[in-house]
Parts: sequence; structure tokens; C-alpha cells
Amino acid sequence: MKKQIFTLLCACLMSGMLFAQSTWFNDKDLTLTGVYYYPEHWDESQWERDFKQMHDLGFEFTHFAEFAWAQLEPEEGKYDFAWLDKAIALADKYKLKVVMCTSTATPPVWLSRKYPEILIKYEDGTVLDHGARQHASFASPRYRELAYKMIEKLAQHYGNDPRIIGWQLDNEPAVQFDYNEAAEVAFRNFLKNKYHNTIKELNDAWGTAFWSEVYSTFDEITLPKTAQMFMNHHQILDYRRFAAGQTNDFLNEQCLLIKKYARNQWITTNYIPNYDEGHIGGSPDLDFVSYTRYMVYGDNEGIGRRGYRVGNPLRIAFANDFFRPVQGTYGVMELQPGQVNWGGINPQPLPGAVRLWLWSVFAGGSDFICTYRYRQPLYGTEQYHYGIANTDGTTITPGGHEFEQFIKEVKQLRIQAKARDMKPADYQARRTAILFNHENAWSIERQKQNRTWNTMAHIDKYYRTLKSFGAPVDIINESKDLSQYPVVIAPAYQMADKALVDRWTEYVKNGGNLVLTCRTAQKDRYGRLPEAPFGSLIYDLTGNEMEFYDLLLPEEPGKFVMDGKEYHWNTWGEILKPGKDCQTWGKYIEEFYEGKPAITTRKLGKGTITYVGIDSTDGTLERDVLKKLYAKLNISVMDLPYGVTMEYRNGLGIVLNYGDKPYRFNLPEGAKALIGTTDIPTAGVLVFATKQ
Ligand code: GAL
Repeated sequence: MKKQIFTLLCACLMSGMLFAQSTWFNDKDLTLTGVYYYPEHWDESQWERDFKQMHDLGFEFTHFAEFAWAQLEPEEGKYDFAWLDKAIALADKYKLKVVMCTSTATPPVWLSRKYPEILIKYEDGTVLDHGARQHASFASPRYRELAYKMIEKLAQHYGNDPRIIGWQLDNEPAVQFDYNEAAEVAFRNFLKNKYHNTIKELNDAWGTAFWSEVYSTFDEITLPKTAQMFMNHHQILDYRRFAAGQTNDFLNEQCLLIKKYARNQWITTNYIPNYDEGHIGGSPDLDFVSYTRYMVYGDNEGIGRRGYRVGNPLRIAFANDFFRPVQGTYGVMELQPGQVNWGGINPQPLPGAVRLWLWSVFAGGSDFICTYRYRQPLYGTEQYHYGIANTDGTTITPGGHEFEQFIKEVKQLRIQAKARDMKPADYQARRTAILFNHENAWSIERQKQNRTWNTMAHIDKYYRTLKSFGAPVDIINESKDLSQYPVVIAPAYQMADKALVDRWTEYVKNGGNLVLTCRTAQKDRYGRLPEAPFGSLIYDLTGNEMEFYDLLLPEEPGKFVMDGKEYHWNTWGEILKPGKDCQTWGKYIEEFYEGKPAITTRKLGKGTITYVGIDSTDGTLERDVLKKLYAKLNISVMDLPYGVTMEYRNGLGIVLNYGDKPYRFNLPEGAKALIGTTDIPTAGVLVFATKQ
């Protein structure tokens, strides 16, 4: 009986994890839309007018107290929530729910003056000061203590308040590369703990016999000077792990504190999607992760002459696909409503682009979208930052009207909303995971071997191909179950161990189709080379051996041919010796290894393993390899041009055009256009109902 109860409990817990979205959000709402407001920036007499207009535009929640520590605790230990109570009551009058923030990004001046030890110190010795934001060290015990006191008061006051739907911790909490004394002490403690207080273990892990780097005690260890080009990179690896852990612990401790008081309120934070910082997803008690995204800031990552007004077509898509798998649901906390103030150049978005971004977030399956900010500020660092309302406080900006339109469209769709997971079978059949571990990027970064190598650009070559296939993609870490994906791609997965390779092998033997790419499994988790043939950890899995690898000058790229088509490469090429049961796809057609292969595939058990030991210059080789593989696996794919993406959720298909030309989309059989037309202009959106 006990066992049955336990099994039932496990099943409930597991389904709770799988359907986390239903814990906090209602599928029928499709998405909620909200907007930041800083009551402390405006005369109290204007609050009601602003909330009314917010409500009239259709917003359903607002976002308070993000940078208000000085107003919440004007003197140490003296708290003032009266002004916030008033703002919440007025927001409620206009049916606006509230996201409450912990304001730890802006410690008040009394704190920095009385406890200067909390200030961040840079590697070059510069100590940050009051007058901006994000100048406090997450490693400082004093800072944490004072932050937690304030947060606990806030949570006691608002944790049981049904007008508050959730909490945002801090603001864009990043990994701090902080050289504060407290960080150094904490780093030593981290190492003592990791290496069981045994300095020999650390010396072995860091390979300190090299260049006389050997340590006798933990107290001799300092934070690594990353500016020193040849600094021990095993040490840097541990430092980065430690630094990411500081951010994660700080968030998790805040989260647990709030959970002591919060009833029915979710807790998240608004990460910048810096994928290789390694902290996103590392605070286990957050209910889900959210992100902030800015699309237009002067760089032309878009398509065509005016692409800089529309933005990178996959910038939101990749964030969706990275954040959603962490806990099954995600939100977007900041989405640009117009011009920003911090870019090199801050152009106007193309008319329609704000709405395009909103639909892009929606397409990935988010539960809410919030915009930064309601009113353009009249003073302070962000005076030139657009809001939903203009500097007069009442005129709605073009981006504000695009939000209004989006909200109306969503509300219309709610009437016939279907379940979140209602998606066509052919779309589900091409579900693909990209296995990602930021530590590979950290490790490769310190030993690139070719200055033109870029780990994220390598991954992007696979990602953009998958998006052109119209494939749903999850970017996952090693904690996830691979078996739910027909195809898993692990690009440049440099650091591995036997346990991981065994998992990969089992996945393939049980019917999975694994794609590994160059640089994979060459090092152990400390960043050391195993005492074995180079890269041999995966020989049994891929079925081939590597003779050697070569790197070329970018101005003298090499040539590779597959199925009669030529490709160029220079950053990394492996020369393989395939086993008997491996099929080779393509060969080098230049150099002293002319005729030798870099790509192999073979069957293993019920699945397949494909190895792509080469990185092409423009991604066309990666694209053609995946096309060939999916055709072989009988997985039907689309052929969308770069700039057009398509996703499904809630029985809706969403097609987005970031291209510089109109795109004609052929509706699937039985589908019906609901928003937009099948001729989709630049920055246009088509939403259609799938065949029921
Ligand atoms: C974000 C930040 C916001 C605001 C915004 C301006 O990165 O989280 O607080 O400064 O930029 O675009």
C-alpha cells in the first residue's frame, strides 16, 4: 500500500512538472499581456489616469517595485509600503493584476555607504559605486542579509494578496565576474567543498604540474585573472561554475524566502538570454524562467537593407526554444515597445515589427508577455527609451498601438481556444532536441585553436536549418530524457564522460537518431584530455576513428564535396577513418587528405548515429546533411526560406515573416486563416486554425 501511495505521489509530481503551465496559467487565456510601471517615478495624482489607460488598451497586468528599494526601505530597518499599497489598490480598480519585484538590483545609498564591502570589484581593481544599478556583489554576505530582510518584509506584506499574481526576483540577474574579497573567500570554500578539502585533488583536476602552478593549500588560491591570456583554463572553468552558482544561489534563496509566505503566486526572474553564461535554469525553486528581449538597437542582424528595423529572425525563436524546455512554461518579461536608448544607434522599428515580435513570443508557447515600459521617463539614464505612452504620459506610441492590436487579436482567439498541445502530427514528428551545455562553450573559448571558431554560430547552423524545416526544437540540457525526441543533435559537445556516452549509445540503440558534430567528447569534465587516442571516447558509438583534425586560414578555405555539391570550410575539419558499417557522406577534395571523409552515418541497434566532423563556412553543408538524414528517416520537413518561421500551439498555426519580401504561404489542407492573409508582407503575421 505504502508503495502504491509512493508511486501515485511520484506520478502526480511528475505530471505537475510536465504540465507546470496549468498550475499558474489558464490554457484558455492563450497569453496574458502586461506592462512595467514605476509609480515612484510619477506624481501620485497621475497613477489612476495611467492605470485606466493601460486597462483601456487591454493590458491585464502591471509590474511594480523593480528598482524601488530606496522607497521601500528609506532607512535601514524602516519600511514603507503605503505608497505601493495605494498603487496596487488603484491597479486593481482597473482589473490589473500585479507582478511584484524584489528590487535587489538597486540598493539604496545608505546601504552602500554604511557597508561599502558589498560593492562589486572588477578584475582591474575598479570598485563600483552608488549612482547606477547592479553594483552589489551577490557573494557579499552582508548584501544578501540586508536584501533578504527587505524581501521577507515584502513577502510578509504581499504574499497572501490575490491581487499579486507573481514575483520577479532582481532584474536581469547575470553572472558577476566579481573580484570582491567576499567572492574570493566564497570561491575557496567552493573549491574546498568540490575537492573534499584535499589540495592534491585540485592540483590533479587543474593539471597544476604544468608550468609550476602547483598549490600547497587552498588559501594560496585567488580568483583567476582572466585578462592573463595563458591563465590555467581548468581553474577558469571552475571559477565560471562558481560565479554562475553565486547568482543561482542568490536567486534561489530569495525564492525560498518568498515561498514561506506566498500563496498561489508564481516566482520567476527576467534573465537576459545569454545562453553561455550558464546560470539560466540553475535555481531549482523558481516556478519557471522568463526572459527579456530587445530586437532593434542599431546592428543589422536582420534581412535586407531595412533588416535592422525588424531584427534577427531567430532571436526570439531561439530564446523560446531555450527557455520553454527548462520547466515546460515560460514568460517574456520585457519586450521592446519602440526605440531603446542603449544601442550604438537606436532606430525606429519598422511599422508592424513590434506586433511581429509579440506573435513570435506567442508562437513559442509562452504564457505571458510583458513590455518595458508604460511611460517614457522624463529623467534618468533612459530618457530616450520609448514606452507605450509618450513623454506627455497620454499619447500612445506606434508600438503601444501594436500592443493594443495584438491584445485584441488574442482576446478574439480566446473565444475558440483549444488545448496547448493541439499540434499537427507531421509537426510533432519532426520534433528535434539540441543538446546544449554552456561549459563546452566556456572550454572551447579558452582554446579555440582557430580564431574564426564560434561555438554559438556553429550551433546556429543546425538550429536555423531545423527552423527552415518547420521543426519544433527544444534546446535541452543533460537532465532531460532524450527518448522523447526522434532526433537529437549535440553540436561541438567538447566535454563528456563515459556516463554521457553510454546514455547517447542507449538512446540510439533504442531507436533514437543522434547527430554528433566536430570537437565532441574530446575532453573530460575538468577540461583534460583522456590518456587515450584523441577523441576516442565516442569511437565505439560513431563507428569511426579520427586520424587528425585540420584548421585553415579563412582567406584560404578548403573544399569539401557531398553528392556532387561543393562546400567551403576553414574553422575545423576532422579527417575520419570510418569503420566497415559506416556510410560516408562526402569527402575533402583538397589538401594532402583529399578523398578522405568527414561525415559518417550508420545504424546502431534500432537507431542511427551520424557524425559531422566538419564546420562549413556558411552552414549550407550542415543544412544538406540534415536534409539527407531526415529524408532517410522518412521525417517530412518543410523548406521555409530564412526569415520565415512557423510554429503551432493551441490548434493555431503561426507564420512570421522577417524577410524583406512578401511570402506566400500555402495553408495546410483544411486550415482556415484567422488573422492576416496567406500573402504575408514583411513584418507580417498569419495565424490560422488547424484542421479540427
Ligand atoms: C533591460 C533592463 C531594463 C531596462 C531596459 C531598457 O535590459 O532589464 O531594466 O533598463 O533594458 O531597454
